Amino acid sequence: MKANKIKDDVFWLGVNSPSSREFHGISTPRGGSYNSYLVLDEKPTIIEGTGKPFIQEYLKSLKSKINPEKIEYIIIDHAEPDHAGAINEIKEVCSNAKIVCTEKCKDFLIAAFGVQSEFVIVKEGDELNIGKRTFKFFPDPMVHWPETMMSYLVEEKMLFSADLFGTEISHEKLFADEMKPFQEITRDYFAIVMRHYAIPVQKAIEKARTLEIEYILSSHGPIYRQNVQSIMDYYYKLATEPEENKVAIFYYSIWHSSEKMADEIAKGVEEAGSVAVKYDINQSNFVRMMAEAMTSKAIALGSLTLFAGHHPLFNAFFDFLQLNNQPGKKAGVFGTYGWVSEAVPKLKQKLMDLKYDMIGDVDMRFGPKTDKDLLRLRELGKKLAE
Ligand SMILES: Cc1cc2nc3c(=O)[nH]c(=O)nc-3n(C[C@H](O)[C@H](O)[C@H](O)COP(=O)(O)O)c2cc1C
Ligand SMILES: [Fe+2]
Ligand SMILES: [Fe+2]
Repeated sequence: MKANKIKDDVFWLGVNSPSSREFHGISTPRGGSYNSYLVLDEKPTIIEGTGKPFIQEYLKSLKSKINPEKIEYIIIDHAEPDHAGAINEIKEVCSNAKIVCTEKCKDFLIAAFGVQSEFVIVKEGDELNIGKRTFKFFPDPMVHWPETMMSYLVEEKMLFSADLFGTEISHEKLFADEMKPFQEITRDYFAIVMRHYAIPVQKAIEKARTLEIEYILSSHGPIYRQNVQSIMDYYYKLATEPEENKVAIFYYSIWHSSEKMADEIAKGVEEAGSVAVKYDINQSNFVRMMAEAMTSKAIALGSLTLFAGHHPLFNAFFDFLQLNNQPGKKAGVFGTYGWVSEAVPKLKQKLMDLKYDMIGDVDMRFGPKTDKDLLRLRELGKKLAE
């Protein structure tokens, strides 16, 4: 991969990995990308490193633009291995470079990779002059880890935002406006990387909104150069009010009666003018389900009773669901049993423990049989969709 020009003196040095299919538990149908950037000025500067698997490709791209010994600064915004895993290999060729990062990031880089380097430690609002241009730094702890920060290149109005505003997608096209739509992938990335830290994310976006920004350069996914507001607004919505006119139904069924209940609830949801999405929890990606629950105005969970409870996969499901932290969201429960009903009461209790607003449940021995049974299920769907 050759270094791609973003603007005079500013290059993308990143690595695309179109064949990657997984990242932090998300399925990534369009691959992944690990971005790094180079600014050529009196003191040439790299922003972000790369991960170990990509180091050879990365160094080739770097050397196509500059003799690495001339690099004066390596700004590290985040110490996770996809950003800084190959920092020692980068430092080896950029032998004169100092690492610019937060105090916490220095600690992380030493603890994780045993980095030995001269460091320039920066705090909120600190500036670093690199010649004609100046960086300004804005630490944003917990977006995604405690040591993270954003770096702003003042004269170019460029925000290097690390994981913030990212999408795990390979981008053969450098700019977001040249890509096919990918909002669903941004949503899934947000769900697992950002949602649990919704408040720090919200604060970081509010801070970013005070800057004049023409380019957003995240560590994952394409670069935003037009309408940077669109990604900022979408991230803000996901951090604050992600709900859409949609009800997500999650179920587990062996002999299809609980599945039939899910279908009937979905009909009720659609009759009420809302969108229903259904997931068999045994066949579906947990992060995708978490993202769907996050963006739904209500959820319904259903299981047959087996082994005197609901299916054990729901335990993992609840662990993901609690990361969304959405108390007060409407929820319904449905399920079946053969001799003692135990799935529905347990699902209900767990949703109440997570402070969901329980608006109804339907529990049926061996599943629905009559039109009246089906009507009860559609009624539950309607109530969830209201
Ligand atoms: C593997 C298995 C374990 C079951 N364990 C229980 C149980 O512990 N208690 C109970 O009341 N019914 C139990 N049942 C009966 C189911 O709850 C009942 O047949 C239900 O209607 C099946 O729903 P489904 O069609 O959605 O799979 C079990 C069924 C299966 C297949
Ligand atoms: Fe990260
Ligand atoms: Fe990352």
